[in-house]
Amino acid sequence: MKTKVGIVGGGPSGLMLSQLLDLKGIDNVVLEKHSREYVLGRIRAGVLEHGFAELMREAQCGERMDAEGEIHEGFYISDNGKMQRVDLAGHTGGNSVVVYGQTELTRDLYEARDKMGGKVIHNAEDVSLHELTSDAPYLTYRDGDELIRIDCDFVIGADGFHGPSRKSIPKDVLTEYEKVYPFGWLGVLSRTKPVSPELIYSKSERGFALCSLRSQVLSRYYIQVPLSDNVEDWSDDAFWAELKSRLPADVAAKLETGPSIEKSIAPLRSFVAEPMRYGNLFLAGDAAHIVPPTGAKGLNSAASDIYYLYHAFVAHYQDGDDSGLEQYSEKALARVWKAQRFSWWMTTLLHDFPDNIPYDNRLQDTDMDYLFSSEAAMASLAENYVGLPF
Ligand code: APR
Ligand code: PHB
Repeated sequence: MKTKVGIVGGGPSGLMLSQLLDLKGIDNVVLEKHSREYVLGRIRAGVLEHGFAELMREAQCGERMDAEGEIHEGFYISDNGKMQRVDLAGHTGGNSVVVYGQTELTRDLYEARDKMGGKVIHNAEDVSLHELTSDAPYLTYRDGDELIRIDCDFVIGADGFHGPSRKSIPKDVLTEYEKVYPFGWLGVLSRTKPVSPELIYSKSERGFALCSLRSQVLSRYYIQVPLSDNVEDWSDDAFWAELKSRLPADVAAKLETGPSIEKSIAPLRSFVAEPMRYGNLFLAGDAAHIVPPTGAKGLNSAASDIYYLYHAFVAHYQDGDDSGLEQYSEKALARVWKAQRFSWWMTTLLHDFPDNIPYDNRLQDTDMDYLFSSEAAMASLAENYVGLPF
């Protein structure tokens, strides 16, 4: 098999790039390790920067997002019960975010691929990347006992943190930066009315909590938990009681509880791999970078990688202009690191760090005090939350 762009990974990054390239007549193939059902069974975050929403519309996948997603022009931060609204639109000249589940977004991308007859190969086993520094790279994968080869011009590593692409870059070429946080997030999805029409990020003596939503009948809540906790340690009742204890009293009083339809604990890490290009391999999304979910930047960091790659390949194939490909890693990393900084800052601001020295805790209080007392500080938070320019 021969294609122009071989894409490893059928998550949001791989699917979005596949769809955008196909719309420009640039042939591509997606190799996904798992079944579509498995991929769509993942519960992920749900806040889209306005840039990502625009990209969904450009990819002709934005119809359901626009119909069912919610435009949010602000959110709340609670500091031990003292709540203040972050006016995103007011601080960014009218910008906002779209609250729309990543599972639904991935479903929309798959349906768009099907509609165009896109080549997404599921259950592709043992995907391997070959000859990446030659001008004839290729992919292989197993379909049962058959080994199948796909010759490409370029390979995209959109295979997430655990995929083979990043690991195909020699260790003496790759530099990895990592920071692991001393806690995780216990998340619950429940068919209940969200406690607030806008998200609430809550800092409390007992730890961080987040009130989010998927729709007006589907709520998403998180509480910070020790890394030693297991999801089995947490009954629904225990979760609801702990969540209430971390929210302002008036919010806790109106919290609608119900059975969890999904409950899981995720660790928090910050990670960046540099460079994001090796020969004719280009890394995108979680394959190259991971953020703690606090700033909702995971999927949104992937969006700018895809945006840059999309325009670079169009310039290459339509105009013979390789500047976008040559500048990709530097350009993508510049925005990736700004999302890393914001995610680290918001995580540091809002969580309880058990090993903090007293001085650090006073700095944390001061950071929150500065945020609540400075329009400039709020404006900075707002422009990062809605998304810095691509
Ligand atoms: N072969 C083929 N596919 C693979 C392999 C492999 N060896 N290893 C992993 N994959 C697939 C995974 O099954 C997954 O569907 O690559 C895909 C990577 O998707 P994501 O992990 O979702 O990463 P990405 O598409 O970059 O999306 C980033 O989605 O997962 C969230 O938190 C993440 O919000 C971020 C966004
Ligand atoms: C979510 O709804 O899952 C969500 C929202 C905002 C975040 C993180 C997760 O910062």
